[in-house]
Amino acid sequence: MKILFYDAKKYDIDSFDKELADYASIEIDYLDADINVRTAALAKGYDAVCAFVSSDLSAPVLEVLHEEGVGLILLRCAGFNNVNLEKAKELGLTVLRVPGYSPEAVAEHAMTLAMSVNRRIHKEYIKVRENNFSLEGLMGINFYGKTAGIIGTGKIGAAMARICRGFGMRVIAYDKYPNPSLDFIEYKELEEVFREGDLISLHCPLTIDNYHMINAKTISLMKDQVVLVNTSRGELVDTDDLIAGIRAHKFHGVGLDVYEEESGNVFENREADIMEHSVTARLLSFPNVIVTSHQAFFTEEAMEAISHTTLENALGYEKGEIPTGNQV
Ligand code: NAI
Repeated sequence: MKILFYDAKKYDIDSFDKELADYASIEIDYLDADINVRTAALAKGYDAVCAFVSSDLSAPVLEVLHEEGVGLILLRCAGFNNVNLEKAKELGLTVLRVPGYSPEAVAEHAMTLAMSVNRRIHKEYIKVRENNFSLEGLMGINFYGKTAGIIGTGKIGAAMARICRGFGMRVIAYDKYPNPSLDFIEYKELEEVFREGDLISLHCPLTIDNYHMINAKTISLMKDQVVLVNTSRGELVDTDDLIAGIRAHKFHGVGLDVYEEESGNVFENREADIMEHSVTARLLSFPNVIVTSHQAFFTEEAMEAISHTTLENALGYEKGEIPTGNQV
């Protein structure tokens, strides 16, 4: 099996090459460029392409892959909202993903964002380096004894709920399908979670039903001085409404690992670019906002699991034994 690996970074190559030693029948060629309608044709002669969460797998790209004889798309991520699944089905392309590589990696980053923004670590880090030891602007809040509101209690939400419980927080949650094994969680209606949470953390997938679930109306339901964290998908939050809420002093802090404008930025160094219309730049101007660049998954353990499962998916496809739950 020959795989063309798009948008390969050094850490991808290191991690996949390490695993590849155990898969004699698989060959990988790595490309710097990400997949798009022009670069898709480079996959001619390959059985599969390997792509990521921000790769363009729209209908025109899938058509090129099909014309060039590619039969398999290996997503090295859990999310698949970037793939036109209807088109893939029509063309007979198999799409495989890595459903859960390390929920704890994402949940731990969500709590890192919550704690960092709460205690203004991003401000203090720079201040102390300049010999400024004043405490002005650094006042935090205790999470102990407060209420954590978790939206989506799948693998990552459950891990976040356990972390919050460990902090001594009361944990409430909303999920369309509550998980009875999480017996320390009080499940509530979505509106109640917005009203009662001191920390609100989003862990549901992006669907047509929940686009902009955080908007002017839902922000108005939240407690004053709430901490909001999004490690799920940028489009869950209406950024303009979020900015209006921050300006109205609604939030103690906001931590975002994902945001609406991220697709051109994710994993790129854009230090020299002038971002003229960037709402992200506006967000970053606030002292109580931290933005990270879709890095919540990025731990050694998660990378190892991603490369292992992706290669197992490739092998399973080759043998006609696709691992259960990995096909989308
Ligand atoms: P999962 O499939 O295990 O859990 C998702 C949960 O959300 C399920 O329990 C489902 O019932 C619930 N849900 C679905 N629609 C909902 C809605 N409208 N409101 C409330 N709950 C709803 O998924 P997992 O692995 O926990 O991942 C969650 C999300 O995290 C992914 O969809 C992805 O967007 C994001 N993610 C972000 C990463 C990062 O690096 N920032 C890495 C991996 C995932």
